[in-house]
Amino acid sequence: MDQTERFQAIVDAEEKIEPTDWMPEEYRKSLIRQIAQHAHSEIIGMQPEGNWISRAPTLKRKAILMAKVQDEAGHGLYLYSAAETLGISRDEMLRLLHTGRHKYSSIFNYPTLSWADMGAIGWLVDGAAITNQVMLTRSSYGPYARAMVRICKEESFHQRQGYEIMLTLCRGSAEQRAMAQDALDRWWWPSLMMFGPHDTASTHTEQSMAWKIKRISNDELRQQFVDMTVPQADYLGLTMPDPDMRFDEETGHYRFGEIDWDEFWAVVKGDGPMNRERIAAKNRAWDEGAWVREAAAAHAAKHAAAARRSA
Ligand SMILES: [Fe+2]
Ligand SMILES: [Fe+2]
Repeated sequence: MDQTERFQAIVDAEEKIEPTDWMPEEYRKSLIRQIAQHAHSEIIGMQPEGNWISRAPTLKRKAILMAKVQDEAGHGLYLYSAAETLGISRDEMLRLLHTGRHKYSSIFNYPTLSWADMGAIGWLVDGAAITNQVMLTRSSYGPYARAMVRICKEESFHQRQGYEIMLTLCRGSAEQRAMAQDALDRWWWPSLMMFGPHDTASTHTEQSMAWKIKRISNDELRQQFVDMTVPQADYLGLTMPDPDMRFDEETGHYRFGEIDWDEFWAVVKGDGPMNRERIAAKNRAWDEGAWVREAAAAHAAKHAAAARRSA
């Protein structure tokens, strides 16, 4: 058995690949791309919600939103650490993000226009994220799988808090219900886009399945999300912004209309409503945080020198 066969045998036996194990170069590259993109999404995803922390309607809502945004920072940090075990540094990943060569989830290139968007993001965006991420807890790469177990627990809290905001608005005044409907109208289609292109147009799927980096296809995951979410919208008394949405008795699934793929590709390629602002804000935060990184490095060097002296 050669290295490649031994590697595939470990994967097929549902055992984990660990950082010191031999792995095909393409497996390593493809995981770096996926985990870094995931980490970047967590970090860039702090911006649209961070935008509402200072305007949360109550102290309690503010505390919950701050905790959620901090969770997302934590997710980013676990994921950067997981990617570093594959031999890329955090500085390098950030450089690739800051210069636009690494991608993050396009959903964060849409603006947050009202408080109801905090509800819609938790409910739909975190909901779509969990649908995608549950399979990643069984990823063949050990550090990624383990990071995802913890992340998924927190994401389900995020989804619940978002739905609870929507429920509160939907039980409120006519104006509040209209805010909730407007947020659903704006976030629904971008949430469906989070699952990526159709299976027929998806380039990495087959190899990722064989390597157990991915286990369920984009279209299947999207369908799971729709089937889970439509009854939740019904319970809220909201209307899905899709005239083609209907329950198909025969298959037991909801049928839905076609995604606007022109919009999808425009946002992926950098022309979404907020792409430039998100990257500019990220670069600004990086530059303004330089003194913190320098101070932390100086502090660590001082401690290391003191430890050497006493040794
Ligand atoms: Fe997250
Ligand atoms: Fe989240």
